[in-house]
Amino acid sequence: MSHGPSRPLTARAAGPLRGEANVPGDKSISHRALILGAMAEGETRVTGLLEGQDVLDTGRAMRAFGAQVDKQGDTWVVQGVGVGGLMEPEDLIDCGNSGTGVRLLMGAAATHGFSVTYTGDASLRKRPMARVTDPLALFGAQAYGRSGGRLPMTVVGASEPVPVRYATPVPSAQVKSAVLLAGLNAPGETVVIEREATRDHSERMLTGFGAEVSVEQTAEGRVITLQGQPTLRPQAIVVPRDPSSAAFPVCAALIVPGSDVLVPNIGLNPTRAGLFETLRDMGADLTYENPREEGGEPVADLRARFSPNLRGIEVPPERAASMIDEYPILSVVASQAEGTTVMRGVAELRVKECDRIDAMATGLRACGIDVRDGDDWWEVDGRGPGGLRGGATVAIHLDHRIAMSFLVAGMASAEAITVDDAGPIATSFPIFEDLMGSLGAQFDSVAD
Ligand code: S3P
Repeated sequence: MSHGPSRPLTARAAGPLRGEANVPGDKSISHRALILGAMAEGETRVTGLLEGQDVLDTGRAMRAFGAQVDKQGDTWVVQGVGVGGLMEPEDLIDCGNSGTGVRLLMGAAATHGFSVTYTGDASLRKRPMARVTDPLALFGAQAYGRSGGRLPMTVVGASEPVPVRYATPVPSAQVKSAVLLAGLNAPGETVVIEREATRDHSERMLTGFGAEVSVEQTAEGRVITLQGQPTLRPQAIVVPRDPSSAAFPVCAALIVPGSDVLVPNIGLNPTRAGLFETLRDMGADLTYENPREEGGEPVADLRARFSPNLRGIEVPPERAASMIDEYPILSVVASQAEGTTVMRGVAELRVKECDRIDAMATGLRACGIDVRDGDDWWEVDGRGPGGLRGGATVAIHLDHRIAMSFLVAGMASAEAITVDDAGPIATSFPIFEDLMGSLGAQFDSVAD
């Protein structure tokens, strides 16, 4: 759902950050738990679900598709309708700000013989959907949207779907997942080939629900094969905490003098943990304490301490998919390093909730940092600890991660930084302000 009026917010330096940061559940896993729960036969129980607006919108959508989704105490309970059992929604499906929500839902519904019209907020209505509707057309589904393949868009599902073999042209877990979810209700084998590995939560969770999924590394890339029309068995799912949300307290601690923050229980799936490796390559004092396995995913407690000797590096482009949502906050850390941080192979950043390279480059320049950028690369010249001037109001373009990145920058800059709207933070990290405040951060609301 679209959020209300803009809510400007200011962050200023206010001494060290100290304590424990209990960040919310993983957004990617939360969406998938609700969608696969709705496609299983019987009752799936989910704890640790992210109650951010993006995920709540997906929960509402699953109800519209005929599943029952309720919260009982701390547990979300989903009564699934079984593979092939989704029903035609009576109204538009509004996915708010969520690209993951709309793309996964389009996939899940595309092999049912009914039509669905999808929409979203001003950010989502700008984002490309052909990357999903192109492979869905191979199953037999047809999409009619605005020019450029934008929402609002109606997808007429295939009543007699055929299975598909599809090589994703862009590294995207959303595209891969949309094809796999569509493949659930197609007879026979659906195959997705990705040249670069992207987050693998769909493959893991489909296997957990009892689908037959095999993954093979070949010369073509990572080949994922799904046997269609399985019976999905309901699951008890414990959602691990989100490494993409953990990135904010971790990075804040690294750049605010005197900080020492523990971020417990963070999922360190290798397809998601690229930022933490990159920070360590830059010389960050970031340690993994108590490493363990939970629910088939590697997990650790992260400890981040102020790191005055960060150095700029060239981020290995092959790491991009495993840290794609973390480049905005990385660029803030880079501004506090000695030397230049070079980020290549990141064209996907231009089609996220906003053009993230442009939003960060514009805001960092306004705060006194030199940034250069091209279609699929950007470079940030670090000015060392304390080198961020700040003193700017930045536009976040309805993008939660741009808002949180500049609020973290404000915690380490000479003059305060204001974001023009903190509202979208609620899509992925609704407790951000309270949590960062409990560590010692200072925010001021800006009167209209
Ligand atoms: C996501 C995949 C990524 C990521 C997004 C969540 C997912 O997008 O940026 O926040 O849950 O599958 P792409 O699929 O576009 O890479």
